[in-house]
Amino acid sequence: LRVKDKQYRTIWMDKTIIRMINQMLLPHRFEIVDVKDLQELKLAINNMTIRGAGAIGAAGAFGIAQAAMLSNDKNFFDNVADAATQLRKTRPTAKNLFTGIDFVWNALKKESKVSIAREVAVRQANLYADMDASACKRIGKFGASLIKDNANISTHCNAGWLAFVDWGSALSPVYYAVKEQSKNLFVYVDETRPRCQGSNLTAWELVNENIPHLIIADNVSGALMYQKKIDIVFVGADRIARNGDVANKIGTYSSAIVAHENNIPFYVAAPVSTIDANCPSGDNIPIEKRDESETLYVQGKDDAGSISRVRISPEGSHALNIGFDVTPAKYITGIITELGIYPASYDGVTRILNKVKSK
Ligand code: MRU
Repeated sequence: LRVKDKQYRTIWMDKTIIRMINQMLLPHRFEIVDVKDLQELKLAINNMTIRGAGAIGAAGAFGIAQAAMLSNDKNFFDNVADAATQLRKTRPTAKNLFTGIDFVWNALKKESKVSIAREVAVRQANLYADMDASACKRIGKFGASLIKDNANISTHCNAGWLAFVDWGSALSPVYYAVKEQSKNLFVYVDETRPRCQGSNLTAWELVNENIPHLIIADNVSGALMYQKKIDIVFVGADRIARNGDVANKIGTYSSAIVAHENNIPFYVAAPVSTIDANCPSGDNIPIEKRDESETLYVQGKDDAGSISRVRISPEGSHALNIGFDVTPAKYITGIITELGIYPASYDGVTRILNKVKSK
């Protein structure tokens, strides 16, 4: 999507270099990072230079292609398998990371000739990125049908185009409703502590797209829902279990409960690459724990224009930093995928998986 009237994707590949928007510096500085090898890529995923379920899925796919391009012929398949193992360990929760890696690795390992395997890897990685972008656009089209003119929308974290290759999941219906259907709408953006993906990234996307919005501290949305100031909630997903339970950024569960209590529709938007057919329920989803420093400090731009972090908690205090929570299916009004909108239930997920198989 647009940054200062120029079209960008979040991540792409240029020969052997993986290029990505540096999400650690947004909204203060817009920079493209060149990732030259596996070590740099692992660091970029770990420190969230690239983040968001779909975007790290594409990073995984490009990572396998890059490993294939950079590996010598001797031990080629072992080298690429090792890269896949290392990439799988970078972040545990978003299913898309594993989907992206497997999409390229499964195609490449069928080849016996190294030169062909390299070509296949690059082609598959680019195909994965294209599929992610087009799936997200379709999510936008389905999701926009739920948005009435003048709607007030709540969203949590960043499930916009920065979290995918393009368009996004939860924000895609917003973009589609505005761009393709000229609807008026308003977005309440949860700040999303501790990393502030809402205020840093979602708000930045909305500024670039000229979409009216307000950033709210995470504890504000409940009051707005009670006051009927929110008509509909759209969030993304990092992993969808077989029974329709959804892992998403920490704080999603609370938002879902308050929405349910106030009869506000609560939709999860995610491409099918997010579904884990082998994960029976939300209790089985691996939940990432991150470094306490993300909670003890905040990063921002000071008055002199430098980006720096400041400690907001006493020396001697420690923090618990759980990255994701699980929202039980019963609180989710529906799951918006690129194949349509389905109930969040075992039956609904079965219907999605059957539709994938029949394609
Ligand atoms: O910023 P992250 O990678 O820790 O968060 C993942 C997410 O992007 C959010 O949970 C989002 O809502 C899921 S949709 C990409």
